[in-house]
Amino acid sequence: MAVDQSGVWRFRDLLPIVDNPDNVVTLREGNTPLYDLPRCAKLAGIDWLLAKHQGMNPTGSFKDTGMTAALSVAAERGFEWVACASTGNTSAAMAAYAARAGLRSIVFIPEGKIAWGKLSQSMDYGALTIQLKTDFDGCVRILTDLVTRFPIYLLNSVNPYRLEGQKTPAIELLEQLEWQVPEHVIVPGGNLANGSALAKGFTEMHHLGLIPRIPKVSIIQAEGANPLYRSLQENGGKELIPVKANTRATAIRIGNPASWRKALRALRTTGGWCEQASEQEIALAKAQIGAEGVGCEPASAVTLAGLKKLVAQGKITREERVVLVLTGHTLKDSDYTINYHRNELFTEAENAGISADDQPLHAALRKPPIVLEPESDAVLRALESHMKLTHLTQPA
Ligand code: F0G
Repeated sequence: MAVDQSGVWRFRDLLPIVDNPDNVVTLREGNTPLYDLPRCAKLAGIDWLLAKHQGMNPTGSFKDTGMTAALSVAAERGFEWVACASTGNTSAAMAAYAARAGLRSIVFIPEGKIAWGKLSQSMDYGALTIQLKTDFDGCVRILTDLVTRFPIYLLNSVNPYRLEGQKTPAIELLEQLEWQVPEHVIVPGGNLANGSALAKGFTEMHHLGLIPRIPKVSIIQAEGANPLYRSLQENGGKELIPVKANTRATAIRIGNPASWRKALRALRTTGGWCEQASEQEIALAKAQIGAEGVGCEPASAVTLAGLKKLVAQGKITREERVVLVLTGHTLKDSDYTINYHRNELFTEAENAGISADDQPLHAALRKPPIVLEPESDAVLRALESHMKLTHLTQPA
């Protein structure tokens, strides 16, 4: 049965949200791999580091686990239209699941500020794609008004069924670890729903007596899109300080996140932290995850950047076991990767802002394509000079 092949619906006893399993809309999401990252662990200063790669879902991001749940509810209730505002991944997932269900979908995305891979997906899956001349927060404002004027089922992460689906990777992770609970789970923070969905999954497992304690869930934001981090610093999380968001990690380019209260609760109930990562730190972390043969999109790499900080601050110790949640596939934003390797990602000022310790790490990781005449001698010369360079710049 299709529901048994889905990494979300095989946990359906914990998802009492559809009346009839025949109404489930699934692309066989979930069942994502858990990879060890020994070199990243060493770089961060810990012994044990795993990545739960949610980018290995059918549309390439963690959004599929929530979308299968919420879209199934929309289909069962007989909605014709579904809609979301998105930085690109939610819209890709929604468009795909709506197409599977034969529903019509409208996507609102910020013009020019989403990765091409994601934009192409919503078109490929047949959504009505509307690029608004505003940012993500502006898209949410328009959509919130629209749903009061047109019978559309809203599929942003404020939709509670999405969070139900998004809690299942927590269960799957524990299952993969044979119910040995890691000390820390680290997620990126954008609209701030995912951290709380995973915390809900862990908490339910604890209440069911399947695990003796819950891991600390930490949330990492990009420095240019850090409203939760800033609010915790400035007012202890009493109220949200929205920001005008700007980061190349476009998935989390969000200044006024809808689910900040839920995220705060997740931090408090699990004992996790909120950190931020600079553009340069994100790029380095992304390249380091890529260099382990795993890869992820820029927003996912904030987890490794944040881990390094939490270790440096003594909040995570060497022997503690850490799981990074990689939320999106590396092919979602190949422009970012190519620009990084060609050393065209940053402005001169940003390049100058890279710390002396990190400069050689970037230099060793960058692998720009080399254009050559089609002659073996030329290739051999390039290989020799590459080997010399690698030898000089490889970190010990
Ligand atoms: N990582 C990726 C790759 C994302 O696409 C998102 C959010 C996040 C992390 C943050 O998760 O919002 O639950 O804190 N993307 C949304 C979208 C906003 O529209 O695709 P969050």
